[in-house]
Amino acid sequence: MTAHARHIPVLLDEVLSLLDPRPGQVYADCTAGLGGHAVEIARRLSPGGSVILNDVDPANLALAEVNVRAAAPGIRLITFLGNYAELPARLEEAGLAADLALADLGFSSSQMDDPQRGFSFMRDGPLDMRLDPSLPVSAADLVGSLTEGELARLIEDFGEEPAARRIARKLVRARAEHPILTTARFAEVVRSALPPARGQAVDPATRTFQALRIAVNDEIGGLESLLYRISAACGAAARGEPSWLRPGATVGIIAFHSLEDRPVKRIFGELTSQGRASEVGDGFTRPSEREIAANPRARSARLRVIRIGRDSTPTPHRAAPGDAPRGLV
Ligand SMILES: C[S@@+](CC[C@H](N)C(=O)[O-])C[C@H]1O[C@@H](n2cnc3c(N)ncnc32)[C@H](O)[C@@H]1O
Repeated sequence: MTAHARHIPVLLDEVLSLLDPRPGQVYADCTAGLGGHAVEIARRLSPGGSVILNDVDPANLALAEVNVRAAAPGIRLITFLGNYAELPARLEEAGLAADLALADLGFSSSQMDDPQRGFSFMRDGPLDMRLDPSLPVSAADLVGSLTEGELARLIEDFGEEPAARRIARKLVRARAEHPILTTARFAEVVRSALPPARGQAVDPATRTFQALRIAVNDEIGGLESLLYRISAACGAAARGEPSWLRPGATVGIIAFHSLEDRPVKRIFGELTSQGRASEVGDGFTRPSEREIAANPRARSARLRVIRIGRDSTPTPHRAAPGDAPRGLV
């Protein structure tokens, strides 16, 4: 099988430099996507390394697997389909521990560009927005069933949209006439509640689309669970107990908006100030002008990286051919 779909990995050079993958290490990709980051990291883990791919979207996970296998045939590859909030427990149950982990939040180009997934207001399609196609509630279900107050709160909390109340009122009126089932109709109703866009680079419906996507996929809840598990891994390292992250493991998170970046900044900041982790790099890393010009979707990305444990530097490891994969505890 050959993978065709494309997703340009964001902040790739910065991820490689800050995570610093070495032969023999175990890498856990919480959001495999199309394997853009995983492919480049996998190449640097040979010989003897392992890659754990996780994604909630089975189509993306399958493509990532194909791409990583093709790029690094000698690597040990393990896949998990599911929410990254559950990955730490699944790794611990399997007796696996990572030296490197990355969560590149949000959605991939393949998801955004497929009108059937309902993420884009540029192309019409069903108002779906489920990253995990097995979730029971779609975006259309939420728009059709929440009260006006609930819709306003959702748009305000997850879209930081000042006109949330006006938009919610319009949505409730419009759905009384006809159910809102497509992205085009949803965008049209949202735009009708806002002043006309005058040469703006960003569509006025963007914040409301983001809000709905975050709600459908419980994106902030999932991220908070992951941060909790990173924090717990720091505690385990301090007590000398095993967890899904080895002492000295390097963990990076790429956030695309302030609602995601704020909890990452807060928890990483707490862990470093308590001496339970150390900061890798200087605060956060943003894409260069050059990267943004080549990939405008990267423009809002922020990468934060920590290392688990106080002053812990990763143990240099040169795997000899035939070495057992590390991380199996
Ligand atoms: C920005 S893409 C990752 C791209 C990837 N780093 C690459 O270079 O190809 C985000 C991926 O995370 C997945 N995802 C989003 N939320 C998730 C969650 N809570 N659990 C697991 N996967 C999730 C999406 O399905 C999507 O494939």
